[in-house]
Amino acid sequence: MTHYHVNGRRYSAEPTAGQCLRTFLRDLEVFGVKKGCDAGDCGACTVHIDGKPFHSCLVPAFRAEGREITTIEGLATNGELHPMQKAFHDAQAFQCGYCTAGMIMTAVTLTDAQKSDLPHALKGNLCRCTGYRSINDALHGTCNIEPDVAGKALGASLPNPFTDAIVTGKARYTMDLAIEGLLHLKVLRSPHAHARIVSIDRRAALAVPGVVAVYTWEDVPKRLFSSALHEDHLVDPDDITLLDRVARFVGQRVAAVVAESEAAADAGCRALHVEYEILPAVFDPVLAVQPGAPLLHDRDLLTASNNIFCTLQGEIGDIAEGFKEADVVHEQTYSTTRVQHVHLETHGSIAWKGEDNRWHIRTSSQAPFVVRKKLAYIMGVPERALHVFTERVGGGFGGKQELVSEDLVLFATMKLGRPVKWEWSREEEFIGATTRHQMTTRVKIGARKDGTLTALDVEVFSNTGAYGGHGGETLGAAMASPIAAYRCANKKGIGHAVYTNMTPGGGFRGYGASQTTFAMECAIDELARLLEIDPFEMRRKNVVRPGDNVESIWKEPTDASFGSYGIGECLDIVEQNLKKGNGVAKPEGAEWAEGQGVALAMLECGPPTEHRSGAEMRLLPSGAYHLACGSTEMGNGITTAHKQIAASMLGTRAEDIDIINADTDRTPYDTGTFASTGTVVGGKAVHLAAEAMAVDIIDFASRHAGVPVDQCRLDNDGVICGNQRISLRDLHAEGVKVDHRFSVSRRAYLSPRTIAFNVQGVRLAVHRVTGEIRILHSVHAADIGRPINPMQCRGQLDGAVAMGYGWALVENMVHDVEGRMVNPQLRNCRIPTFADTPHTEIFFADTTDLIGPLGAKSQGECGINPVAPAVSNALADATGVRFAHLPFTPDRLFAKLGTAK
Ligand code: FES
Ligand code: FES
Repeated sequence: MTHYHVNGRRYSAEPTAGQCLRTFLRDLEVFGVKKGCDAGDCGACTVHIDGKPFHSCLVPAFRAEGREITTIEGLATNGELHPMQKAFHDAQAFQCGYCTAGMIMTAVTLTDAQKSDLPHALKGNLCRCTGYRSINDALHGTCNIEPDVAGKALGASLPNPFTDAIVTGKARYTMDLAIEGLLHLKVLRSPHAHARIVSIDRRAALAVPGVVAVYTWEDVPKRLFSSALHEDHLVDPDDITLLDRVARFVGQRVAAVVAESEAAADAGCRALHVEYEILPAVFDPVLAVQPGAPLLHDRDLLTASNNIFCTLQGEIGDIAEGFKEADVVHEQTYSTTRVQHVHLETHGSIAWKGEDNRWHIRTSSQAPFVVRKKLAYIMGVPERALHVFTERVGGGFGGKQELVSEDLVLFATMKLGRPVKWEWSREEEFIGATTRHQMTTRVKIGARKDGTLTALDVEVFSNTGAYGGHGGETLGAAMASPIAAYRCANKKGIGHAVYTNMTPGGGFRGYGASQTTFAMECAIDELARLLEIDPFEMRRKNVVRPGDNVESIWKEPTDASFGSYGIGECLDIVEQNLKKGNGVAKPEGAEWAEGQGVALAMLECGPPTEHRSGAEMRLLPSGAYHLACGSTEMGNGITTAHKQIAASMLGTRAEDIDIINADTDRTPYDTGTFASTGTVVGGKAVHLAAEAMAVDIIDFASRHAGVPVDQCRLDNDGVICGNQRISLRDLHAEGVKVDHRFSVSRRAYLSPRTIAFNVQGVRLAVHRVTGEIRILHSVHAADIGRPINPMQCRGQLDGAVAMGYGWALVENMVHDVEGRMVNPQLRNCRIPTFADTPHTEIFFADTTDLIGPLGAKSQGECGINPVAPAVSNALADATGVRFAHLPFTPDRLFAKLGTAK
C-alpha cells in the first residue's frame, strides 16, 4: 500500500494501473477536483503538487506518491479563506462555478509579472460562463458585491448564496457523490453515419472482468420519444428510442455496458463486436430534400416524401408589390455553423433505488420535471415512482434541455437493482450531444431611397440532424423575432427543418434566433451601404416601435408585446461609446484595415409554447423564510435573483431567505430553466408567492395585535403594528398556537411575453494578408428592464457576448465527408480562452418593464445574438468584403480577401 498526502491528510491507497491523479483524488472523495476534458485542455482539474500547479488529469497518480498534494479544499486555513478565494468571492468571479476550483488553484501560483499578462498566464484554464471579465476583476482585487441591506435587495449586486461553497470546493455538482455499490455505464457509439445493426456479439464484452451487463436495442423499451424537453411534448417528434436498431449519425449510442468500474465499462465497449449494414447517408439539408435522397425516418414522421421534418411559412402584405416599391434590393445567402455548448460540466446522471422503493435520479439537467415525465412514459411507471433532482449544475446553455443520460441509467438501475452512474467524456459531448442548428438563410430585402423597408423575403434551411427534437421550435424562433424586429408592410418567409445524418441539433442560447439575426443584421447593413445611410440611422428608421404589431410573417396575433421599450436608448449608447472611443489604436502597418459594425437583436422573453413555474414560501420558526422553486441553477444566477425578488417583497435581507430548487420531490413544478424563463416565469412565481406571504403575515399580525391592516407593515425580521413591533419569530410562535402555518404557494404562467433588445458595436482591425482579426473596441447595450442584480446581469451578458465572439471567430466543428467529426477535443475545437475574449463595455437601458416581475426582463440569451453580425458588418466596413458565412477564421478570411484583391 502506498501513501499519499492530500491537503495535509495521509491516505493509504493504491491507484489502479494507468490511473491519473484526477480520478484517483476523486476516488478518495476529494471532489473539488473537477473534470472538463481529461485531456489537459481545460484546467478544471488543477491541483498543486509540492506547491506547483498541474493539470491532474495528465499526471499519473503514482507520480504523486509521497509528495504534498493540495486541492481547492486545502487552500483555506483555520477556516479563513485564502486571499485568492476571498478575491474570487468579492469579485464573484464565477457563474456556474465549475471552473472555479481549477482557476483559483492556478491563480494562487501567479507572480505579479504573470498577473500583468493574464491572457498568457491563464491559457490553461477555460471558463465558458463569465467571458473572463470577473476573473480578471478577481486577479486585480476588484470588489463587485454590495452589502445585503433589509428592504434594499432589489437592484443590489448581492453575492451568490453559494459563493463560499464554490470558492472552497465544497459545492457539490452532479457527479460529486460517493455511493456504495455504484456501477458505471458507458456506451458504444456508432462509427457510421447511417447503418442498420445486423448483430451485436456481446460475449467478449461480458467476459471482461468487472462487466456486469450489456444492453442493446433488443433489451430496451421500444417506446419512441424525443430527447428534447418542452412543456408540450407534441412540439417535438417522437423519433428516438433508448437504443435503436438503426444508427443515423456518427456518435449515436449503439449499446450500453455496465461494469464495476469506468475502465471495465470502457473495455467492455471496445470488446463488443457489431456487424453493420451500411446505408447511404446525406449530410446537406438541401440535398436531403431532393428526390431520391436516402430517407432517415419512417414516412409518417415526414411532411413529404423527403426528409423535411417541418416547414413553416407565411406572408403579410404583398411581397411582390413591396419589391416593386423598392428603389434598391439586396439579396444574399448567409450561413451559420453548428457549435457545441461546451458547458464545462459534461452530461451525466446517477440513479438508484431508495429505501422508499422509488427510483432517484440525480442529474445535470435544465428541466428535471420534464425529465421525470418522459422517464415515466418510457419506462411505463407512474411519475410518483420517480424522484428527479439536480445538485449544482455546471453550465447548460440549452445543452441540458435534453434527456440524454437519465434514460439509460434508470433502465440499468431498474434491471440490476444497484446504483448506476454515467458521466460523459468531452469527446462524447462533441459527437453525441446536440449542437446549435446549422442554418442557411437567404434574405432578399428592398427599401426606398430614404431607407424605408418595403419588402422582406426570407428562406431558411435548418439542418436538424438525425433527430428532430427542437427542430420545429428553433425554426419557429428563427422565423420570429429577427424578422419581427423590423417594420415592413410586406414580409414573406419559408423555412424547412430537415433531417440529415449529422449530429442532432438542439437548444442553444439564442435558440434559432441567433442564426437568422446574423443573416438579417448583415442584410440590413448591406442595404444601408447601398443607400449610403448610416447603419445606426437605418436601424432607427426601421426598427419596430411601441404600438406596432409585433409580427414576423404571420397574420395571427401573438402574445408578445412591449412591456418596456429601450432599443432607441441601446442604439444611442453604443453609437456614443464607439464615437467616444477607448484609445485602442489599430496595429501599425498598411496591411491592417480598420472597420466598425453594429447589429441589434430582439428577443421575446420566453418561448411561445406553454411555460409554467411555481414557488412555495414558508415562514420558519427562526423568523427566516424558506423558498422552494423548481427552476434550475446552472450559473444563470437564478437562486440569487429569486432570493432578491422575495426579499424585496418582504422588506428583508436576501440572506434571510433559504432556497431550494429543481427537485421534483421538494419544489413545485417548473417546466424548466431554458428560453430565458428563470426571471420572467420562475421569478414571477416567486414574486407572487412572496407577495402572498407578506399579505398573510400582515393579516395575521393585524388580527393578533388588534391593529387594522393598514397600520401594519413588514419591517425586516418583524412586523410593525401601530406602535408595537412583533418579531417574526414571536409571530410564528403565535401562529403555531392556532395552527396558522404561514405557508403560501403560487403559480406563474408565461403569457403575455415581453420583449428584450440588445445592441452590439464592434471596432476591429483585420490583417489583409494573414486574416487575423483584433477586436479593438467592443460595446454592448441591453434593454433588460430593471436588473434584479446588476452585477449578475452584467456577468450573463459578458458570458453571452464572449460566446458570440467564440461563434464568430474561434469555434469550428469540422466533419469529414462521412459525417465524422475530426476535431472532437477542446484543443482542436477551441472555445474562447482569456486571450481570445475582448473586454466588452456593458450598459443597460434605463427601462422598467410592465410585464416582467418587478420591472425585469430576460437576458440570459439575447446578448449573444448581435455579436457575429456586428463583427461581419465591421469586417465589411474595413475591407469592403461581405463575410456571410461563419466562422471568420483567418484561413477563410485570407482566401476571400485574396480573391477580392
Ligand atoms: S480535466 Fe484536466 S485539463 Fe481538463
Ligand atoms: S463559471 Fe467558469 S465554467 Fe462556469
